[in-house]
Formats: sequence, C-alpha cells, structure tokens
Amino acid sequence: MDIKDRVRNKALHAKIVSAEEAATVIKPGMNIGTSGFTPSGYPKAVPLALAERIKKEHFQINLWTGASVGKELDGALAAVNGINKRLPYQTNNEIRKSLNSGGVKYCDLHLSHTAQMSRYGFLGGKVDVAIIEACAITEEGHIIPTTSMGNSASFVQSADIVIVEVNTSQPLALEGMHDVYIPLDPPHRLPIPIVKADDRIGTPYIPCGLDKITYIVPCDIRDDVRDLAAIDDDARAMSALFIDFLKKDIKAGRMPKGLLPLQSGVGSVANAVVSGFAESEFTDLEVYTEVIQDGMLDLADVGKLKSASGTSFSPSPAGLERFYQNIDTYRKIMMLRPQEIANSPEIARRIGVIAMNTAIELDIYGNVNSTHIMGTKMMNGIGGSGDFARNAYLTCFFSTSTAKNGAISSIVPMVSHVDHTEHDVDIFVTELGVADVRGLSPKERARVIIENCAHPDYKPMLMDYLERAEKATKCAQTPHILTEALSWHTRFIETGTMKKQ
Ligand code: COA
Repeated sequence: MDIKDRVRNKALHAKIVSAEEAATVIKPGMNIGTSGFTPSGYPKAVPLALAERIKKEHFQINLWTGASVGKELDGALAAVNGINKRLPYQTNNEIRKSLNSGGVKYCDLHLSHTAQMSRYGFLGGKVDVAIIEACAITEEGHIIPTTSMGNSASFVQSADIVIVEVNTSQPLALEGMHDVYIPLDPPHRLPIPIVKADDRIGTPYIPCGLDKITYIVPCDIRDDVRDLAAIDDDARAMSALFIDFLKKDIKAGRMPKGLLPLQSGVGSVANAVVSGFAESEFTDLEVYTEVIQDGMLDLADVGKLKSASGTSFSPSPAGLERFYQNIDTYRKIMMLRPQEIANSPEIARRIGVIAMNTAIELDIYGNVNSTHIMGTKMMNGIGGSGDFARNAYLTCFFSTSTAKNGAISSIVPMVSHVDHTEHDVDIFVTELGVADVRGLSPKERARVIIENCAHPDYKPMLMDYLERAEKATKCAQTPHILTEALSWHTRFIETGTMKKQ
C-alpha cells in the first residue's frame, strides 16, 4: 500500500520500512509504549512482526498502552509469551489468563496517572520505543493520530525511538478531531485551562518532529472493534431509573436543568444508559468521558449532543461504519484528548462531571469492587473509573442485583476487593432501584442500599447480617462480624451459590 501521500514531508519517505525491519530495533526487556485505547488506534503491523520475532528468539518486553488494545497487539504478544509486565489496563482473554496464573505481571493503574507515572520514572525506567498509529505525518514531522489518543503524546515525548505506523484504513478526515496537551510535571505544572467540556487547549497533532521519527511503517489493518452486548431489560431498567433520579435531583435544585457533563464507563450497561438519554427530554447534552461509544453517536444523531470529549472512539463494528460515514458531522462536536486530560481529576471536579460506572460487586456500606472476581482473579482493571468516581459532582455505580443466574448477590456484607471506597460513591443503581447514599452514615447507607437495590432472594440475609453485626459490635461505626464478612464468597466457591442451602 502506498502511504507516501500521507507522509507529507518527502524527506521522511526514506524512513519508510517494513514492519519486520522496524521491529528489529526492539530489544529484550525494553519498555514499549504504544498508542491505542480499547481496540482503537493501536499499532498492528509492527506488533505482529514483533510477535513473529519473539516466536523465534524467545524474549519478553514490557508493554505500556493507553488501555486495552486489539488482538494484533495484546493477543499476538501474549500468545508467544512476549510480555513481562503489562500496564495500565487490559481486557484480553490471553493476557487475563496469563496474569491470573503467574505469567504476565500486571500493574493496574488509574488511567489518568499512567503518563505522568512514566514521565516521573516510577514504572521501571522510561519508554524506550514508542509505536504510534497515525493517519498522517505533517510537513513538520508531527503525528496525526487515529481513533484514540491514550498516552501516545507522552510516550512520543519520552521515547528515544519513535516508530509511526501509518494506517490507510483510518480516514484522513480524523485530522482535526484531536486536542493534544501535555501538562508540565511538578513543580512546574499549571492549571489545565479547560473550564468547559468542549474547550480546546492544545494542538491537533502529537508534537514529534522530523528527526525524532526513527521508522515509518505502512499498515492497512482495521481496528478490531467488538460488538456491544445487546441492551437487555436490566440495562434498560437501570437507565430509566437513573434518568428518573436525575429529573428528581433537578426538581430538588441539586442539578442544573441541562444536567452536567456526562462520563460513562465501558461496556453494555454504560452504553444503555447513554442510549437512554437519546429517548429522554434532555437536550444539548455535554459529554466529558473516556470512551465514545455507540450511545453517544445515537445522542448526536438525534441532535441531543452538544459536545463529546473523550480519549478514544470505541464503537461496535456497525458504530464504526456509522462514525466513518458521518465523520464530518461528528467532527464538529467530538474530540479526542490525551487520557491524562480526558480523565483528569482536576477537570472532572471543575466542570462537575456526572460519573456513571459499573461495579462487579458492592457492599452494604458502599464500597465497590470493579476489578476482582471473588477477590482474587483480575477481570479487566480499574481503568478510568477511579479518576472520575472520586472527583465527580455525582458518582453513580451500576450493577445488576445478582450475577451468575442469581447464584451471586452483587450486594454482599463486605466486598472481596476494594477499588472505590464508601467515601467515593453517591448513588447505586440496580435493575430494582436507586440507593441515594449522599450524606448518610454507614449504618444508614446499609439500610438504603439493601432496601432499594438488593435482590429479594438476598434482602433478608443482608438485613440479618446487618442486625447481627450491629448487636455483636454494640452498634460500632461500621458493624461487621469478621468471621462471617466474606462467608458469602467462600460459600459460593464451595457450593456454587451464595444462598444458604
Ligand atoms: N461476582 C462474581 N462474578 C461476577 C459478579 C460478581 N458479583 N458480577 C459479575 N460477574 C461476572 C459476570 O458473570 C461475567 O462473567 P463471565 O465473563 O464469565 O460471563 C463477568 O463478571 C463480567 O460481568 P458483566 O456483567 O458482563 O460485566 P460488564 O460488561 O458490565 O463489565 C466490569 C463490568 C466491572 C467488569 C467493567 O465495567 C469493568 O471492567 N470496569 C472497570 C473499568 C471501568 O470502570 N472503566 C470505565 C472507566 S471510564
């Protein structure tokens, strides 16, 4: 494929090489920082060539990305046992298996922290090689990113070697959709000058320069985007309950009429909630989030979206087609920023984000586990949920009241792992109701959560635990019977259900 028209400075044409040749600069043990956030905008040709090399030469690298990435990167490298340490987030089956069986070492990070932690040198050295997917390279040697921003700009700034993968499957019309800003590090950091969700503060390209680019590689492999699960009745119910809750908060004078900028987590529930807004009476909605999914395209298509800022476009295959076909329209209202800006706690707090994320389980006192199955097995990672949860105007966690066909109660006496504490969450929503725990003490919180959100099969068990724990501790601040607090999990592991037989 010919990428010469996308590499606008002719002097750079001499740096165009095959993926195999570019991959030879990567040495065992190097820290490789790549573009990519969800299966969007990640390099594909060089990782596939690297995996082939590793298959023959048997070595490992450390892989740093924006977040999860597609199979040509995570999948291919995991399959050849090529990854020593992985950060900051993943959703790949091969990697998940490996990190839960002592293979890949996984450093699960808040996504807004990753770039600065790499710049501070906290991650085991600096980025040795940056591999960045681009739709074009400017006359000056700056990189026009594709469907995600992630940590690319910071990785390019820090790396000694920069490989740019120019992907011809990515439309040139993406140019102009990025807003690249890299904050200075302390003690020189200044306030990030975003005061409205759609403020532009940076450049439409990743600053790089002609000299810094080591190799340019052609690629035409498309983003391996995945289908979102169909919106089911539970997700629809949670969406309706949440929108109803917001209306009541507006009536009570706690929320402006036009709402505040929405942040929505990954996955089907988040997507269902955003789609629910398309059918609501709300208009001129603003989105300040991490991932722009199909639901936001729905909002844009019905004219209800004023602006959307994220760090990645992560639609379904059908959504990606829709996005590509109407890109000129979407470009007017959507932009991608580096994840340390898209997920910035400073901005989330300043503009007053409404944060909507999903929990694996929560406990009666309001602690949330987003990452670990039965307290031990990593599912995906904390992602950006913590960036927003602690700093939002309104923090909401969604979960169905049960999992595994009712064998698991998603509300338990004590979570088996804590990602978000009782201090971080304002409301919980299950398909059964909303628990508004703002301003409540732990014991008040427990009753509101059990009453409004727990499944009827587990409600009496939870109330029984709470009352006995109160008695046993003489109504301590946060009553627990420590020998029993995790017994629901052990019962599930031993008998296949949390229900008492
Ligand atoms: N105990 C044990 N397993 C549970 C469970 C519980 N309480 N609740 C759900 N599960 C299992 C499900 O059965 C499912 O298992 P399977 O893969 O074997 O089918 C799995 O966990 C995922 O559950 P599902 O309901 O499909 O999850 P989801 O797609 O709604 O995702 C999270 C939920 C929490 C895993 C996902 O939102 C996540 O990774 N969050 C962390 C990152 C994040 O919030 N990012 C957004 C920030 S902007």
